[in-house]
Amino acid sequence: MSKDPVNLDNIYANNVGTFAKIVNTVLPVTYPEKFFDEQFDAKNKSTFFGQLGYFGEVAVGGVRAELIANKNGGVKPAGVYIQVLAVLAAYRGRAIGSRLLSYIEEQSKEHFQHKIFAHVAVDNEEGLEWYKKHGFEIEGLPLKDYYKDTTGSPDAYVLVKQV
Ligand SMILES: CC(C)(COP(=O)(O)OP(=O)(O)OC[C@H]1O[C@@H](n2cnc3c(N)ncnc32)[C@H](O)[C@@H]1OP(=O)(O)O)[C@@H](O)C(=O)NCCC(=O)NCCS
Repeated sequence: MSKDPVNLDNIYANNVGTFAKIVNTVLPVTYPEKFFDEQFDAKNKSTFFGQLGYFGEVAVGGVRAELIANKNGGVKPAGVYIQVLAVLAAYRGRAIGSRLLSYIEEQSKEHFQHKIFAHVAVDNEEGLEWYKKHGFEIEGLPLKDYYKDTTGSPDAYVLVKQV
C-alpha cells in the first residue's frame, strides 16, 4: 500500500511566511503581516488553531481558525471561526481542504464548541459549493462590504456548521 502523500503540520514562526504566501496567493483578499504574526503574540488572548497542509515535502495549503469571544460577557466562546482556508490550485481535489477542515472540527470538539463559522465572498461559487458539500449552511443575508482589501466581491455570506 502506498503512503498517503498528504500530511498536516503546525504553523511555526519559521514557516508562517510560507503559510502567508499560500493564503495571499490563493485568496483575493490581501492579509497584512500582522494578521500572520498575531497567533505568536503572547499578549494575544485569542486562541488560534492553524495547520499547513503538505503534499509530500511541499506546503500547498493552510487553515487558521479562532475561538470567537462571547460578546454577551459569557466565559464560554460563541463558536469557532475559520479565518482563512486555502489550497494552491494545482493541488486541489486531493482532500487537502477536507483534511484541514477535519482538523478544525477536531479542535472545535476539544474546546467544547459545536458551531463553526466561515465567511465566503458572494462571488466565490466554488468555495460556497465546497462548504455546502462539507455540511455548512448559509445563515441570513450577505454582509455588505465585509472584505476591505480584496480584488473580488466585498460582500460575504456567513456559513455555519453544527459539529
Ligand atoms: C475550498 C478549497 C480550500 C478546497 O480544497 P481542496 O483541497 O480542493 O478540497 P478537497 O480536495 O477536500 O475537496 C475538493 C473536491 O475534491 C474531491 N476529492 C476529495 N478527495 C479526493 C481525491 N483523493 N481525489 C480526487 N478528488 C478528491 C472532493 O470530493 C471534492 O469534490 P468536488 O470537486 O465535487 O467538490 C480550495 O478549493 C481553495 O483553496 N479554494 C480557493 C479559496 C477558497 O475558496 N477558500 C474558501 C473560502 S475562504
